[in-house]
Amino acid sequence: MRMRERRKNQTAREKFRQTQELSVKDLIMPVFVKEGISGKKEIRSMPGIYQFSLKEAVKEATRIYKTGIPSIILFGIPLARHKDAIGSGAYDQAGILPQAIRAIKKVVPKLNLIADVCMCEYTSHGHCGIVKGGDVDNISTIKILAQIALLYAQAGADMVAPSAMMDGQVKAIKDGLVRNNYSKVKIMAYSVKYSSGFYGPFRDAAESSPQFGDRRTYQMDYHNSDEAILESKLDIKEGADIIMVKPALGYQDIIYKTKKELKFPVACYSVSGEYAMIKAASLKGYLDEKKIVLEALTGFKRAGADFIITYYAAEAVKKWMKNKK
Ligand code: PBG
Repeated sequence: MRMRERRKNQTAREKFRQTQELSVKDLIMPVFVKEGISGKKEIRSMPGIYQFSLKEAVKEATRIYKTGIPSIILFGIPLARHKDAIGSGAYDQAGILPQAIRAIKKVVPKLNLIADVCMCEYTSHGHCGIVKGGDVDNISTIKILAQIALLYAQAGADMVAPSAMMDGQVKAIKDGLVRNNYSKVKIMAYSVKYSSGFYGPFRDAAESSPQFGDRRTYQMDYHNSDEAILESKLDIKEGADIIMVKPALGYQDIIYKTKKELKFPVACYSVSGEYAMIKAASLKGYLDEKKIVLEALTGFKRAGADFIITYYAAEAVKKWMKNKK
């Protein structure tokens, strides 16, 4: 066996390639929409990523659609004075996210629009649900998550993505959608979401840091991997169309295992901290950004991800990817 024969030139390397080359169709781009601003505001810990006003978000969605990226995942950030203990801004028809969904759908109806369903951006305490006795209460929270998802479906979302890590949230949402004749709206479940330090910059972006404690009573403990299968199986049973693993870098064993054992559509979310690390090192000239980004994203695909949510989606497609179709 002469292994180097397979690597001797580009033709040989392409011939022996196992994972298909990264495609624009694999990618999902996150977009932050902020209430009450004009223009756009760069996120301190994520250079190149912005909070957009409603108007700018529509323009951004249009630009993303033109690159060939098929999907965006939308996060809404209300004004601080619209936050309260029960996150009522999250299920307000006139809230920032329903408005953004309607506006984007009107201009780029073919862009697959995924709405993140959570309460942390809308609660004054920053937790992902209703707090009772110092912890997030499951039953009252999933009822509200179901209302939020229905509202986003009614506004025109193609898919909802519950990220609160409450037990039974997928079933509650699915039942609500079916009962109201929105069963065509798909669910991408954050099934395997670890409690992670890699979400740090996102909390700057979404203004959603918990004001006390942390999320370890609902997000997963990163010492566990069998639990990824259990969480995914529960969500599939409850009606998820796609399961998601998050974070991605450092969790490729989890992506691999989930795909291998369940043979179900798997997304991975390359989170804010992953973006921030690569971006910061690239800006300092410590890393070759193009090489690192393509290597990391291809790695997720090789691990088994069918969809990759990444803050690098738009930049990678515009600057570095060859096969844009
Ligand atoms: C909201 C949510 C978070 C992320 C996506 N949805 C933050 C969290 O759980 O604290 C993180 C995304 C990222 O870091 O890029 N529940």
